[in-house]
Formats: sequence, C-alpha cells, structure tokens
Amino acid sequence: MKKLALHCSFILPLLFVATIAIRGQQKAYGEKYRPQFHFTPAVNWTNDPNGLVFYKGRYHLFYQYNPYGIKWGHMSWGHAESTDLIHWNHLPIAIAEKDGTMIFSGSAVIDENNTTGFAKNTSEIPMIAIYTGHYIADTSRLDDYLQSQQIAYSLDNGRNWTKYSNNPVLDLHKKDFRDPCVFWYAPGKKWVMAVVLPREHIVQFYSSPDLKKWNHLSDFGPAGDIKDIWECPSLAQVPVAGSGEKKKWVLFNSQQTTMQYFVGEFNGTSFVDENPSSKIYRPDFGPDYYAGITYNHIPENQLPVLVGWANNWTYAADIPTKPWRSMMALPRELVLHKKNQEWILYQRPVPAVYGLRKRPWSAGHFEVQDKKDLPVRSQQCEIEVTLQPGAQSISGLRLAHGNQKGLEIGYDQKNKILFMDRGDAGSQSFNQKYAHMSRYETKLESGQGKILLHIFFDHSIVEVFANDGEKVMSMQIFPDEQDNMIQLFSENGPASFHNVKIWELNSAWTK
Ligand code: FRU
Repeated sequence: MKKLALHCSFILPLLFVATIAIRGQQKAYGEKYRPQFHFTPAVNWTNDPNGLVFYKGRYHLFYQYNPYGIKWGHMSWGHAESTDLIHWNHLPIAIAEKDGTMIFSGSAVIDENNTTGFAKNTSEIPMIAIYTGHYIADTSRLDDYLQSQQIAYSLDNGRNWTKYSNNPVLDLHKKDFRDPCVFWYAPGKKWVMAVVLPREHIVQFYSSPDLKKWNHLSDFGPAGDIKDIWECPSLAQVPVAGSGEKKKWVLFNSQQTTMQYFVGEFNGTSFVDENPSSKIYRPDFGPDYYAGITYNHIPENQLPVLVGWANNWTYAADIPTKPWRSMMALPRELVLHKKNQEWILYQRPVPAVYGLRKRPWSAGHFEVQDKKDLPVRSQQCEIEVTLQPGAQSISGLRLAHGNQKGLEIGYDQKNKILFMDRGDAGSQSFNQKYAHMSRYETKLESGQGKILLHIFFDHSIVEVFANDGEKVMSMQIFPDEQDNMIQLFSENGPASFHNVKIWELNSAWTK
C-alpha cells in the first residue's frame, strides 16, 4: 500500500505535468486574443518588422525579437518566411544580441554582384542584413548607449548569419542614429541607405559601392510631423495608378507613435517632396500602426508591399496577450493616385488573404434606424459593405458586440469623418493610457454619397480599408471570446447598407 502510495505520489504529478504540456501544445496559436491570419511569434515579444526581402520565391520576415521574454529587451532578429505573405514558417533566430550590442531595426538586400566580396565562389549569392548596433557599455545604465550601422551576411538564404568583422560600417559616434533602409539604386549602380537622426527629425541619405564604405549624400527634414522622434525610414518606388509605367518615390517614416509619408522624386542623391509641405500624410489613422517598411527585391511585375507593427509604444508592453506580445499588420500592396494635385497612397491587403475565405454570408440591402444584429457571429472574418449614410447620420458597424457595445467603425456624415472607437470594446484596464486612447478619426469624402468599407477582424486586431484603400485604420481590441456579434447601427436618422458580405476566414496557422 505504502509502496503504491509512493508510486502514485511520483506518477500523478508527472501525469499532471504531461497533461498540461499536451494541453499547452494543443492550444498553441489557439490562445485567447491570438490572431489567426496575422503574423505573431509563437512566444515572446516582437516589435518592428526588419529586413523584408523576397528571394528565391520566399518572402523573408525578420523582426525585432526578445528571445528571453515577453517585454522589450535583448533585441535580436527573429526570422520567418512565407511564399504568400499570409502563411508563415518560423525559423531559428537569425542575428542575436551579443557582447552588449543589441540588433536594432534595419533592412536586408541580395548582393547579386557580390559587391561585398562575402561570397567565396560563384554559386553563392550573399544576403546582407544592414542593422543598427545598439551598444550599452553598462547594463545598469540603459540610457547610456551608442548606435552605429553594422552588417551581417548569410550564404544560405538567411539561415545562418556571420557578423562582419570590421563593424561598424557607418558610425557618427552618436547616441541616436538608426534604422537603415538600404536598397540597390540601379541607375547609379550603387547601394543607397536612408537612416534617421531621430531627435533632429532628419532622414540622411548615404551611398556605397560595397555596403562597407558609405558616403553622405544629403539630408531630408525636418518636415511634416515633428512632434516626436523619427524612426524607421523606408524609401520605395510606387506605381501611379492608371499611368502605365510611371512611378514616384515614397518616403515613409515613423514618429512615435504614428507614421507619415512623403511622395516625390529621388535622383540617387536627394529626395524632393512634391506634396504640399503644410499637410501631413499618413498611411494609417488608427492607434496601432508603426515602423512600417517595404519589401526589397520583389519581382518587377508585383506591387510594392508594406508591413507594419500593429501596436503602439504607449501601451505595447502591457497588452494582455500571452505567451506572445505583438503582431504584424496585414501586408499591404501600394499604389499612388493623384487627387486634387496631391499624391495619395492607396493600400489594400495582399491577395493571399482571400484564399482563407469560407463561404460568404451576404445580403443585398438594409435600411437601419438605430441598430440591426446580423446573423453571423465571428471574431475571425472579413467584411465588405457599401454604406450610404443619411444626411445627418452617424452610422456604421459594431464588432465584438455582446455584453459590451463593441468596437465601432463609423462614418459621421455631417462632419465627413471616418472613425473607430474601442471605448466600450474589450479589456481596458491593463494600461491607464490605453483606456484614454479609444477614439480615432480621419476626414473622408463619400464618393457619390457612398462609403466602401473593407474590414478585417482577427480576434485582437481590426483593420479598415475605406474607399478602396484611400484611408486605412488599424486598431487593437481585447474582447471576450463570446462577444462576437456583428451589428449595424445608425444614429441621427437612418442609413442604408448595401452589398453586405461577411466571410469567416480560416486560420493561416493550422496546417
Ligand atoms: C522603433 C524602434 C527602432 C529601433 C527598434 C528597437 O519601434 O524604436 O527605432 O531600431 O524599435 O527595438
């Protein structure tokens, strides 16, 4: 008996641990708030996307990653790859923090001509990462640091990386100097780098024959929004819609805690903004879009793709997700339109997301006075609707509706404002500032009295593409799982909703 008791006391805890482990395994990517068609690391903290490069049929996503915890720290480059930008395979950490140097944001290029000399035989083509080395001499004084630009190379498609032995390659001996965006400038047969002086609100341009020696070309800024520090510049050519071959250069930068873009010309030396300098242009008007950069090396016939971090530094460290924290927003294709003498960026999600659609629910027309519940319940869906507001109406949709009102996506016809409001949607208490950052808006004209809304709802993120991507808003929410009703609403008079379509979406994470 005693023997059996002893035996049980040994076996039972083991069984218990094993059961938890199995349950834990089954729940991976099924946890509360876990997005199902957005990129998240399996565990731990992530922020900016880094080193976006397409090579040999694969989109590489490197990203700011803490291998040791769920808060920012020990920054290293995590790595995943995809053939369609929606289904991702996790790969081992690419470039790790070492000897007091963290691996901050940057980009990756394919050195087809072996300008660096890192390839030792003709069959090798180096992939090069250009990142900011963030050096802290004394870890008890985190604000005492230096930043410089450094490189690392891989000769096996991004799997194994070697840091260049003569790093740094660009050093101004400054505290804040970071986030290099590097690309091959074909007309000048040279590498170009855009990199920020955050506190000065300046993007600097440099050029190099070999990614090792860099010459200063010019500075852009201060310009546009300079309320807070600038980070993460990205410069890319974007086609002009309906113009055949015409392209303009778009310069993005993040300034805590939002993003802006400038559109104009880059001649290999300097960037000239062609939009009115008195206005600020944003790729996203929600609270949760930051550090967006574009893919390098994508095929000529493909539109440029922008990936951003769907979070906000104000409360990012506290969002109530576990065992991971933070996600990437849906990758977006970019085109430009000229409207009233201004260059406007239009964005739409990459087409692979439509491959996740289940059978749609659809309805031709609703006249709504006050509110109407739709028969579909989901926190993992895509919605399309044409909203025809009444003259004075404030109308739209509520997601994650149930015990709480839910997240409102609405249009205020009198003031011509598109808004999102999460004030009564999901958990608010995890961070005091979050609770005060509930309503976001942007001006939007209704084309022929109609607003087209294209919405992606993925458990803890909602992205809205309005009027074919002319305005985009991204917002996180942390709702209870049972609050999954979808409701139409109209206040101050009726509104019409046409061509309502809802697709529940499959998970991109289950094989
Ligand atoms: C932007 C940023 C970058 C920096 C990185 C560090 O979110 O602050 O400027 O390289 O994050 O993780």
